[in-house]
Parts: sequence; C-alpha cells; structure tokens
Amino acid sequence: MKYLVTSALPYANAPLHLGHALEIIQTDAWVRHKNLNGSEALYFCASDTHGTPIMLQAEELGVKPENLVAEMRDLHEATFKKFNVNLANFYTTHSEESKDLTQEIYSKLLDHKYIFTEQISQLFDDEKQMFLSDRFVKGTCPHCGAKDQYGDGCEVCGKTYNALELISPVSELSQKKPSKKESKHYFFDLEKFTSFLSTKVQKISKQQPMINKMSEWLDSGLSSWDISRDGPYFGFKIPGEDAKFFYVWLDAPIGYLASIKHWCELNGKDFNNLIKSDSTKLVHFIGKDIAYFHLLFWPAVLEAAGMKLPEEVFTHGFMTMEGKKMSKSRGNFISAEKALEYAPADFYRYYISSKLNESVSDIDFSLEDFVEKVNSDLVGKFINIPSRIQNFIYKHNQGKINPNTNSLNQRFTSDYQTIINATETRNYALAIRHIMKIADEINLYVSENKPWDLEKTGDLQGCLEICSEALVAFKSLVVLMEPYIPEISQQIYKLLNLSDCTYSIVYEQGISEINKYEHIIKRLDIDELKGVYDG
Ligand code: 2FM
Ligand code: ZN
Repeated sequence: MKYLVTSALPYANAPLHLGHALEIIQTDAWVRHKNLNGSEALYFCASDTHGTPIMLQAEELGVKPENLVAEMRDLHEATFKKFNVNLANFYTTHSEESKDLTQEIYSKLLDHKYIFTEQISQLFDDEKQMFLSDRFVKGTCPHCGAKDQYGDGCEVCGKTYNALELISPVSELSQKKPSKKESKHYFFDLEKFTSFLSTKVQKISKQQPMINKMSEWLDSGLSSWDISRDGPYFGFKIPGEDAKFFYVWLDAPIGYLASIKHWCELNGKDFNNLIKSDSTKLVHFIGKDIAYFHLLFWPAVLEAAGMKLPEEVFTHGFMTMEGKKMSKSRGNFISAEKALEYAPADFYRYYISSKLNESVSDIDFSLEDFVEKVNSDLVGKFINIPSRIQNFIYKHNQGKINPNTNSLNQRFTSDYQTIINATETRNYALAIRHIMKIADEINLYVSENKPWDLEKTGDLQGCLEICSEALVAFKSLVVLMEPYIPEISQQIYKLLNLSDCTYSIVYEQGISEINKYEHIIKRLDIDELKGVYDG
C-alpha cells in the first residue's frame, strides 16, 4: 500500500509558528511510522499562495505577489526541514501543475453541470476599485448594535449575517464608506452532493466529534459555494473571463495534488496511474478550523470531477500557549524558526507528540512543562540508558554485544505492539507513555543489577550480560521513538551500528557491535528559554 499524506498548506503571507509545527509533527510522525511498519508513505505539502491578503501585502511591500510567495515558499520548506520533516515534496499552489489541475477539475464540473452563475450584490470600495471580502469591511452589527464588527459575523452576539446588512460599513482598505455593486459569480452546486456526503462522511473521518459536526452541517442544509472572485485578485483566471478568478479555496486543496504531480514529474512516475491506483491512499491532516472545506467541499469537488476521494481526513485541535490563544499582542507567540534557536527540533517534536491523540481538543504548550518533560523523559530516562551502560561494552568487549541476548527485550513484546498500534491510531500520547514506562523498567533493571559493581568486583561477564540485555531493549525504544525524535534516533542508530530500521527489529536482538557512547542531548534550562516568546 502506498500512502500519499498531506498536511494543510500554510498561507504564503507569513512564516510558520509553533501551531503549524503541531500539525507538521503529527503528520510526519505518522508518515515515518507507516514506513517503519512496512508500508510506503510519502509526505506532500506546499505553500498556499493565492487570495486578496497576499495580493495586498505584496502591494504594500512594493513587490510582485509572485516574488513574495516564492520567497515565502522557500522559507516554509526550510522550516519544515529544520523540524526534521521527511518531505517527499514541498511545492507551491502558484504553479503550472496547480493551474492545469484546477482548470481540468473545473472543466469536469462544468461538463457535469455542477457550475452555475448568478448576479450577486457586494460591498465595493470605489477608491481601491475592488469588491470587499468580509474581512475587509467593518461596521455595526445589525442584530445587537455592537460597533466595529467584521462583514461575516458579530464577535459580541455571535450572529452571522451578510456584509450588506452591516450598519454604517467602512472599508478597511480606504477607511471610506463602500458602495453596493453587482457582479456575476460562479457557484458550485454543493446541495447536489448532500446524500453523497451523508454516506461518505463516516468513511472519510473516523473521529466522532467530526462525524457529529458533519451531521450538524448536513442537517442544517448545504448552500451553493461561490468559487469565483472579481479582480484585482491574485489567483488563476477563470477560463473565458477577463477579470474573474478562482477563489483561493478552490485551488488550495488542488495544491495537494499538484505537489504530488510535481513529485511524479521529478521522479519519472505517472501521476494519473499513481493517483488512480487501488493501492494508493490519500490521507489529509488538518486543523479543525478548516474541516468544512475538507469534509464537504473537497470531497464533493473530487466526486464531481470523477476523482479519487481521500481515504481519511484526520483533524486536530489548536495549540494554546500557557493556556491562552497564541498571539503577538498577548506576548505568547512563538515563531517556528525562533523556537529552534532555543531548543532542538526533536525536543519540540517529543513534547508536542506527547500531548497528541485522536481527539480534536486543543493542546497547551507551556514552557515550564516543556522543559520539565524534556529533562525528565528524554534526558533523565531515555538517553540515560545508553549513557550509563554503553561504554562498559565498548571498554570490555570491543563493543560486542553478547550473542543470544533478548530476554529483557522480550518482556516488552506486548507493550511494543501497543505502542505501534497507538502510533498507528495517532494516539501518540499513549505510545509515548508506554515508551517511557519501558525506559523506567530498563533503568530499574540496570540500577538493580549494578553493572558498575560487577565491574569493580571483576565479574566482567556479569557486567556485560546486564549491559547487553539493557542495550538490546533500549534499541527497541529508539526504533519506536523514531517517528517522534527522528534526528536523535538517527544519532543513536550510528552509535548502535544500525541503519534503515523497521519495526520488526524491536522483537529481535538486532544489534551486535556498538560504538563508543557519545553525548547526544543535554538538559534544557528554563531561564535560557524565556526569550523564545515574541511580544
Ligand atoms: O487555513 C489555512 O492555513 C489554509 N492555507 C489551508 C489550506 S489547506 C488546503 F486545502 F490547501
Ligand atoms: Zn452582534
């Protein structure tokens, strides 16, 4: 089986923050797990480049949007890599592949009569000569009278409305009163997919809260989806139109396919064969804020175009910082790049993974907890094992592990299966709890058998036996930890003379000759980490 796995495409209007890292880490751990488990899994992503905010940002900076998004794409890819993400391809939605696929899918929707047009009225900024999307207009809520509310809904009373209903609207772009103007829009007939979606939902999301959410959306009725935007707009032009473009949310998920297609071109594979094959599965990892797009629009568009549906859409919650929403104005914002100046990527991967499971609840990042967890688990338990025993073997037996050493390791066979299953179902927190429980047991085994005393009393055979047993079991933990801390695992593989491991090695002795132990990770100091927050 081949898994084509994606995480949400980050907007090319800003560098990544630690909230993005959550999803990237969750996705990459699963991809690595699949490969360790004998399947082939490939991770695809891209920058999401189109839309009004990016166009306006480029204008403000006096650069072309093409250049702005190209630069941001490079930065995004570099950040992914610094987080030790095993990417097959990181692409851009502003690409030929994206454009071709968008047009191809659109023409299939047209052929099947799933597209219709309608004249609609919208607020128009006469000075900027552009239509105003909901985020670019503010006014008084027509329901409760709260001032300064956006065009789509009121943050005070929670009601949603059409921007045309706002009292005293003001354009956020010119600070002027907008006028009302009509224009032709293209709609995708989503209602026609109501019954298809009600039957497919259960299959695409396996998480109960998302299944419930879907039922709620379907019960309240689906409306047609406006897939066009008037120029000026940074995006792909609608064929046959001069100044109308596809809405960014139509081409964004198509960007997943474009990234895969580009990878196929680079690797001499046939995209259509790959994507159509019964042994290929498409899996998306997303945040709960974009579930509507991925559980309704995207499957409906794919179905309408006669294309393969995702096997699964896996949804996660948000990341909060010290219990609060992350924001620069609160002073609790952590940019992904800055995070890496303060601690190694694998430390963040470990801490975040230790909190992730299949629920869609938010997870909290707390600096104190982060330092505590890394120091106590990774340094105090995990790396403590080789650091206290490896050199006995190196010193007294030229690095050779005793043959037929597998009895301590075998004690954990059923735990290993539990850990692998937990990683498979994305219950990383459970997997990591089990791994640390075994690390405790290996440490206890060493403390109780005191190889240092055996060395002193001249019982070198005894000393080597204890160290061999403990190191063989430790090797299994290193393999099981690879999805979470790939860089550290690779460094330990070198010490243990291992390469290209799969999970099968956890049940075996697996190592025969090791190298001298070298220092790999060091404790974090909370005082040195405090500057990580951006105010
Ligand atoms: O919400 C976001 O950040 C979007 N850029 C995600 C797009 S995911 C996919 F559909 F492209
Ligand atoms: Zn209100």
